[in-house]
Amino acid sequence: MIDILPARAVDAGWLAEIHAQAFDDSWSAADIATLLDGPGTYAFAARFDGAPAAFILCRVVADEAEILTLATIPAGRRRGGAAALIDAGAAAALAGGAVNLFLEVAQDNHSAVALYNGKGFVEVGRRRGYYRRPDGAVAALLMRLDLNN
Ligand SMILES: CC(C)(COP(=O)(O)OP(=O)(O)OC[C@H]1O[C@@H](n2cnc3c(N)ncnc32)[C@H](O)[C@@H]1OP(=O)(O)O)[C@@H](O)C(=O)NCCC(=O)NCCS
Repeated sequence: MIDILPARAVDAGWLAEIHAQAFDDSWSAADIATLLDGPGTYAFAARFDGAPAAFILCRVVADEAEILTLATIPAGRRRGGAAALIDAGAAAALAGGAVNLFLEVAQDNHSAVALYNGKGFVEVGRRRGYYRRPDGAVAALLMRLDLNN
């Protein structure tokens, strides 16, 4: 069973453990706590059968919101955790006054791009050569979800 719950700065330790399992360039608990203490920033976590498996960190500034990070541990993937977290993050962004939800994703991150396309995000820009790779560089796609649709 999946459940989605708000996460706070006090949860930064286990959020960082999830982040470290999902990214090579992981964020520390202190980084995450600092973000969560900042204005407009909020997070939700997903638990499977009570065990934390994924989280989303978002920020609302005026009428725009952004997904700062989204991570699911490898053992918890393809169970709908990230999709449910996007729904929770988008609903909170709308409630906080945002009309659009933005994110940036590497063009070669096919699982994340498929996830975002499936949730209705559309590409609205790209930064060419933004992410370095051993054999070159790939673009960052800027994607937007219209929260009123
Ligand atoms: C991207 C990521 C967050 C997806 O998390 P997840 O919890 O496995 O995603 P979900 O189970 O909610 O997937 C929802 C849908 O997204 C798409 N999707 C997710 N992973 C996919 C994959 N590996 N290949 C193709 N489509 C995928 C599918 O449409 C999926 O629905 P389906 O399983 O019914 O086919 C996870 O793979 C991850 O943490 N990756 C490393 C960190 C990262 O890249 N974060 C995003 C940075 S922008």
